[in-house]
Order: sequence, then structure tokens, then C-alpha cells
Amino acid sequence: MKHYVLLFCDPGIDDAMAMMLAIMHPQIELVGIVTSYGNVTKEQSIINADYILKVAGITDVPVIPAAFRSFSEFDEEAYPEIHGSAGLGSIIPPNHFPGNRVGFDTIRSILLTYKQNLTIIELGRMTALAKAFNLFENEFRYIKNVIVMGGAFFMPGNRTPIAEANIYGDSVSAKFIFNYLNTIITPLNITSQAMFTPALMQRLASHPKFGKTIQALLSVYTAYYKENQPHLPGPPIHDIVPLLVMVQPSLSTYVYRDVDVITNGKAKGMTMIDLRTMSEEGRHKIAWTVNADRLLHEYERAMFTGYADE
Ligand code: RIB
Ligand code: CA
Repeated sequence: MKHYVLLFCDPGIDDAMAMMLAIMHPQIELVGIVTSYGNVTKEQSIINADYILKVAGITDVPVIPAAFRSFSEFDEEAYPEIHGSAGLGSIIPPNHFPGNRVGFDTIRSILLTYKQNLTIIELGRMTALAKAFNLFENEFRYIKNVIVMGGAFFMPGNRTPIAEANIYGDSVSAKFIFNYLNTIITPLNITSQAMFTPALMQRLASHPKFGKTIQALLSVYTAYYKENQPHLPGPPIHDIVPLLVMVQPSLSTYVYRDVDVITNGKAKGMTMIDLRTMSEEGRHKIAWTVNADRLLHEYERAMFTGYADE
């Protein structure tokens, strides 16, 4: 089965890795990239999305420049210490590619073209997604799924002691989305369980299309995690997880709950669910456990599909 994907992202190293997976995966067709502030500025995110498409030799996937600021976190800044000075590890992409840039209204056309075949995957702050849903509510009714990388349930966050970065970055937009849309959520609980280990990175470095790019991306990401979280075998794979779970839902187990987001005070960005024994099922399908070995196996398999030395 083919999955038609409209990717909302903030590339960013793991977002770029997710773009490359979407391009390589035989069961995924990337139909558009909506790119916003987050790991990098909005302007840089556009350049970076264009750059990855250019490396892939793709000219027909539209890039839709979207949000430049959060609706609720006005001091949100980029993260060069994690993602590199331009957000792509040691790569400084030239900023003069023509690119296939189109207006925000293209999201509506994509919703109408693909309808029940379309999956939206959100890998960053939900500002642009909230804006699109607020504008095109009727068109959203027909689509297949919205899958979100974000949230941290009953575990430490990565942006604050209790908040995950994507949700913290625009907690109001996240609350809005979780209030009105059914989603599938791949939270930090599972996206931080698989890493780019040295052995995996070595194999990825030999990738015929993206090897050099991946090497340059992951060098900076790895250095950051080595210094700041030396107990980990490598940097976490976060943003590639929603794509893999979309294609193979059995990689994960799920709980179904309503989700609330705290939008102010010390707990800002915290994602809350009721898991008490008497609690009821809710509207979101939350990936709860993951088979990390199988996940990485499927990742590699998809990346190398179609190459003789697979
Ligand atoms: O918390 C992980 C998320 O924050 C990922 O999407 C990463 O790219 C950063 O945006
Ligand atoms: Ca991201």
C-alpha cells in the first residue's frame, strides 16, 4: 500500500533524516513539505528542505514556507548547538537554489487532491498545522491520518524537565490540535528509544544517494550527544519514527486517550493523559511501547531498498 505524505517539519538534522527516509521508502510518496521555524529559523528551514530535495534530484515536490514564529512561545530560538550552524550538521547549504516553493494555499489543494489517501506527518512545532486546520477545517475532514512527533508522557522532557521540545515550542497550537483533531502520537517515550549507533552510522555513510549527506548531518548531532548525554550509544532518531510506524503500525503498541497540554506556568508544554484504571479511552492513538530493534531494521531496509548491495 502507498502512503501519500504531506510533511510538516523544521529541518533540522532528524527532520532531514526523515525527509530522506520518505524519499527512499518504497511505500511512501512525499507530496509536499511544509517548513517552519523550530530547530532553525523559518528561512533556514526552507533552504534546508530545498537542499535535501536537490541532493535527491527531486524537482516536483513542492516546498511550502509556513510559520516564522510560535503563537505562544515568543522567545523560541534555533538550536545550532544541536543541529549545526545552518541546521544540517556540518553542511552549509547554498541559499540560491530555485526550489519548488509554493504558497500556503497549496496545502488546501493537496488536501483536496489526496483526500482519504493523505497522511499528514508533523515533526515540529504545530503552529503551521494549527493555522492550516483553522483555515481548511472542511478539507481536513477527509484525510486519512495526522501523525505527530511530540509529547512526553510520565517521563522527563527534553526541553524542560517535563516538556518535549515540539510541544513546548508552541503549546497553544498543540492544545488546539489535540482538542479538535484525532491524531496518532509518537512521543519522546518511544522516539528516544532507538539511536543512530556508530555501527548504523557507518552503514548509512555508504548509502549510494545520501551517504555523504548523512555523514555530514550526523557528525554534529553525534558530537552534541556525546558531550551532553555520554551514556547514550548515539543520538536519538526521533523524527523518523512516525514514518516507520505509519507504514508498520505493529512496530508499536498503543493506548487511546484524550490529551491535554499545559500552556502556562512551570509545567508549560507538559502533555497529560489519564491512565488511571477507571479512565476511559479517548481520541488519540498514542504509541506506547516500541520494538526498537525491529524499528531500526525496517529503517535500514527502507533506506537501502532498490540498491544491489542491500
Ligand atoms: O523532541 C524532539 C523533536 O524536537 C524533534 O522533532 C526534533 O527535530 C526537535 O524539533
Ligand atoms: Ca523536528
